[in-house]
Amino acid sequence: MTQTHSAADIATVVQQTLQNFRPNRGFTFRSPAITVTGEYCVSQLGDALLELGASHVLMVVDRQVWQMGLLEGCESAIRLAGLQLTLFTEVEGEPDSELMTKGIEVLTQSGADFVLGIGGGSALDTAKAIAVVGDYHGPLTEFEVGGLASRKVGLGAIPTTAGTGSEATDITVINDVRHNIKVPIKGPALVPDLALLDPMLMLGVPASITAATGLDALTHAIESYVSKQSNLLSQAYAYHAMETVMAALPIAVGCGDNIERRFELAVAAYKAGLAFSNSGLGLTHAIAHQLGAKYHIPHGVANAILLPYVMSFNALCCEQEFAEVAKALGVSRDSMTPRQRCQAAIDAVRQLAADLGLPSSLREFGVLEADFDALATDAMADICLVGNPRQVTHGQVMQLMRQALEGEG
Ligand SMILES: [Fe+2]
Repeated sequence: MTQTHSAADIATVVQQTLQNFRPNRGFTFRSPAITVTGEYCVSQLGDALLELGASHVLMVVDRQVWQMGLLEGCESAIRLAGLQLTLFTEVEGEPDSELMTKGIEVLTQSGADFVLGIGGGSALDTAKAIAVVGDYHGPLTEFEVGGLASRKVGLGAIPTTAGTGSEATDITVINDVRHNIKVPIKGPALVPDLALLDPMLMLGVPASITAATGLDALTHAIESYVSKQSNLLSQAYAYHAMETVMAALPIAVGCGDNIERRFELAVAAYKAGLAFSNSGLGLTHAIAHQLGAKYHIPHGVANAILLPYVMSFNALCCEQEFAEVAKALGVSRDSMTPRQRCQAAIDAVRQLAADLGLPSSLREFGVLEADFDALATDAMADICLVGNPRQVTHGQVMQLMRQALEGEG
């Protein structure tokens, strides 16, 4: 029987083809306009803000980081440059729509022309949302970022943990309080104009958080490296991020005052952020987001538990890429076959998480198998799934969660 297609069908196919078409594997790569790095580089903050044309800065800060007095250097640098400063120090816990709305009110009332997020991933994501969402009042799920010009104020990010890479990325995730869902907002306007990486701001981060955020950065690098949407630049950044995290993270966890390793990790997390912002992530993040929302498992910990299982699952169609990952992780040997290298990469990730004392099973967080059906449905709709190299079914997602529930090796 001859199959017929309506004009609408054909238009859909053409649209899908165009969306997936990469002429000669070409790509567009976005990154912050200015990246300032180094010990005490906070002292250069004022100059960077002036270069970007800022005159009045709204600082969006983690309350805890603020109370610890960690940000006096940032404040001094801004004032010494002759810039006006308004503080918003209410970031606590995960970023949500109520906090974002409050921040937008402060931005409007102050008349600030530059939003600077300082703190962990929550402060940076909140700052990015404040700068981009502006006077939009509709449901967050329907908010469209638009292009580079859709942001009316400058945007900067200073991380105090090495993990999320939010200072480099085009995404923020906001918890919509009214509907109790996590809404990812993604677009070019979310890439900060300025990223400043000062390891001196990270010295006091506890070992357990250093370990979890470091595994988040490693997951960004690995998922980005094998993503269907990876490109030559994203893979280069991801490869170097893997090398550095593997070498520096154990020392930064075991010896938190090692400034050199802290600095290397900060740059590695930034590189991993650049990589995944320009390539997408994969199934580990798609599942971890649901476990974080339902059980409040720290994001890096959820990734650390899931990543070896997802790598094993994905190995079917990216054995060669994982062999390259093994090389980056320093566990590849000339005598190994590609399959052995692939397995060595998976084993290395599992061993690193164990060495750092991270949990190895979901059971430890009270995760229930009865929730897997709904969790798998949400994971299948997660924005991160698009980059995963292997097609996955609802049943396979449930099977992966079962393995991670018990920590089966
Ligand atoms: Fe992540």
